[in-house]
Amino acid sequence: MVKIAPSILSANFAKLGEEIKEVETGGADWIHVDVMDGHFVPNITIGPLIVEAVRPVTTLPLDVHLMIENPDLYIEAFAKAGADYITVHAEACPHLHRTIQLIRSFGVKPGVVLNPATPASALEYIIEDIDLVLLMTVNPGFGGQSFIHSVVPKIQEVKQMITEKGLDVLIEIDGGVNTETAKLCTDAGADVLVAGSAVYNKADRKQAITDIRLSATM
Ligand code: DX5
Ligand code: ZN
Repeated sequence: MVKIAPSILSANFAKLGEEIKEVETGGADWIHVDVMDGHFVPNITIGPLIVEAVRPVTTLPLDVHLMIENPDLYIEAFAKAGADYITVHAEACPHLHRTIQLIRSFGVKPGVVLNPATPASALEYIIEDIDLVLLMTVNPGFGGQSFIHSVVPKIQEVKQMITEKGLDVLIEIDGGVNTETAKLCTDAGADVLVAGSAVYNKADRKQAITDIRLSATM
């Protein structure tokens, strides 16, 4: 069954604890946390303090997506704050293998993120060392953007790579996922769907999660 990971980027930060509890009760599988530094992406969001603050609020895995330069400087802080998964952009990591080992050294599951224009081949020499591939279907920086359809063949390509190598690596899709686009992702091989605006901009979050899950599987 496909996992749904609501992105708190579209939540109401003035009542973040309640917003997380609501999606947990509503059937979410993971909580997706978007960390932006104003350098790698043109927006600034949150840091380890918020991860630490929300850790006791939920038992769901915290999936921390680092859209930052020099992630090595902050991995320990996010690990100690309670991240279960930490994903880093291939485009931001000149020493990607070292960064992945650093994440694992703190007992956190590592993942690699690819921007829409980065080819699947960027994963070739790292995929055996990670638990998760995160494929961006928007250019990172903001919630509420439109799904970039040209990424769908890349999902299939990564799925094929994982199957051929016999690996246990999850494929997660992030950006513009909603009831219209979810099935394109799962048909291509996605295991986890991030949904920000498609969950948090709806009055009934439980219904929104159910609708995305149903649309992805029917
Ligand atoms: C974009 C973030 C996404 C974002 C998704 O830079 O990485 O996680 O919150 O938002 P939606 O689902 O609204 O596209
Ligand atoms: Zn994200």
